[in-house]
Amino acid sequence: MRSHLLILLISLLILKSESINCNEKSHSSDLRVFHINSQCSPFKTSASWEDTLLQDKARFLYLSSLAGVRKSSVPIASGRGIVQSPTYIVRANIGTPAQAMLVALDTSNDAAWIPCSGCVGCSSSVLFDPSKSSSSRTLQCEAPQCKQAPNPSCTVSKTCGFNMTYGGSAIEAYLTQDTLTLATDVIPNYTFGCINKASGTSLPAQGLMGLGRGPLSLISQSQNLYQSTFSYCLPNSKSSNFSGSLRLGPKNQPIRIKTTPLLKNPRRSSLYYVNLVGIRVGNKIVDIPTSALAFDPATGAGTIFDSGTVYTRLVEPAYVAVRNEFRRRVKNANATSLGGFDTCYSGSVVFPSVTFMFAGMNVTLPPDNLLIHSSAGNLSCLAMAAAPTNVNSVLNVIASMQQQNHRVLIDVPNSRLGISRETCT
Ligand SMILES: *[C@@H]1O[C@H](CO)[C@@H](O)[C@H](O)[C@H]1NC(C)=O
Ligand SMILES: *[C@@H]1O[C@H](CO)[C@@H](O)[C@H](O)[C@H]1NC(C)=O
Ligand SMILES: *[C@@H]1O[C@H](CO)[C@@H](O)[C@H](O)[C@H]1NC(C)=O
Ligand SMILES: *[C@@H]1O[C@H](CO)[C@@H](O)[C@H](O)[C@H]1NC(C)=O
Ligand SMILES: *[C@@H]1O[C@H](CO)[C@@H](O)[C@H](O)[C@H]1NC(C)=O
Ligand SMILES: *[C@@H]1O[C@H](CO)[C@@H](O)[C@H](O)[C@H]1NC(C)=O
Repeated sequence: MRSHLLILLISLLILKSESINCNEKSHSSDLRVFHINSQCSPFKTSASWEDTLLQDKARFLYLSSLAGVRKSSVPIASGRGIVQSPTYIVRANIGTPAQAMLVALDTSNDAAWIPCSGCVGCSSSVLFDPSKSSSSRTLQCEAPQCKQAPNPSCTVSKTCGFNMTYGGSAIEAYLTQDTLTLATDVIPNYTFGCINKASGTSLPAQGLMGLGRGPLSLISQSQNLYQSTFSYCLPNSKSSNFSGSLRLGPKNQPIRIKTTPLLKNPRRSSLYYVNLVGIRVGNKIVDIPTSALAFDPATGAGTIFDSGTVYTRLVEPAYVAVRNEFRRRVKNANATSLGGFDTCYSGSVVFPSVTFMFAGMNVTLPPDNLLIHSSAGNLSCLAMAAAPTNVNSVLNVIASMQQQNHRVLIDVPNSRLGISRETCT
């Protein structure tokens, strides 16, 4: 454990001493991904990201309540002053000439939506102005994409409008097509929502790009170019000088990578389901009822990989089993709670390893993916929690904290999800 930490520390120091050039061009089909608290992010706050989350129980509960359901349909109490921001952002160039927007990545949503000029209630000062783009086109009600939009409606001017909620926020948008340029790749006639009205505080400021598997997602719209294949490496939230990558298309994807079958749920067409068959703590496979992990298209039960949720949420019986075994293996120390975490320890204790056992692929989490550290209280907490029991308690979500510094490959044509360790730089 000690030597592990030492190596980690040294490698962090080496990498940290290099500053990053925020405006460096992305390579073809390989976009740089920034954490919102990266020095390259305009959304950076002075507070430590982990400490913010640890101390803000309301925020934690809010984030966790996003876990179970498609975020676009979560009924969340709004108006509690909770600030939710996107965790990972990429640069998207929209229109002709291009207007740059830093959009949040969301692998569990399909449609993209961008705040547009004239928007009422959008918090961003950076807005996309369709009137300044020669390639912009507003879609009419009869356009086939209109049926794919969430809650579509036909406006008086016969253009396609839609309404949706995201966390505690709501947007009204109209469907637009324009040229999207990602790194050096050009996607003509990309369909997205132009937000003209927004309320609530949980919207990513400069919009969102959906990487889900449904029809309106980037992945579906760029099928000719990227063949529904992409991978990403999310940088650690603590490493503000690191950037990760979003690599689109089958080219340059890792060949030697552990994979598990990707499952499709027709009722939750956006989500990337996998088959989690067990969880090991130390060398013990914990006793979890089969029903807590089983994939069931009818109820939406199962396990998904998601980039928009911060901490892994396991359905209650699974979480309790993992937590109890984890606690049992931490010798001579009693667990305390902090914020939404219930398995925290102060000082230096030796933690057991945790392994997710997927069909055909075991993934053992390195300490950085397993524990969240509070700098204030010298506490380390198991960075997982039980799925909220009120909403959609059937879904296990493998979240971004557990994916950091790994390459996650989504290969839809071959129905597989791959994962391998990689330091995102
Ligand atoms: C990031 O790089 C800048 C410039 O080299 C440096 O001043 C800063 O301390 C670095 N930040 C971290 C967290 O390493
Ligand atoms: C969105 O919902 C509001 C309130 O229900 C309604 O007034 C508006 O017409 C809707 N807009 C669209 C584009 O569906
Ligand atoms: C984009 O849409 C325009 C307007 O409908 C059409 O003329 C053009 O052929 C389309 N381009 C591509 C590449 O689909
Ligand atoms: C843990 O709690 C038990 C019961 O309260 C107590 O007897 C024990 O001394 C505690 N252990 C430590 C290491 O604090
Ligand atoms: C945190 O705990 C370690 C190990 O017990 C100790 O050496 C260190 O001084 C503590 N730091 C603070 C800030 O309390
Ligand atoms: C995963 O770990 C379990 C238990 O240690 C083992 O039985 C199984 O063969 C492993 N699976 C793979 C694909 O390595």
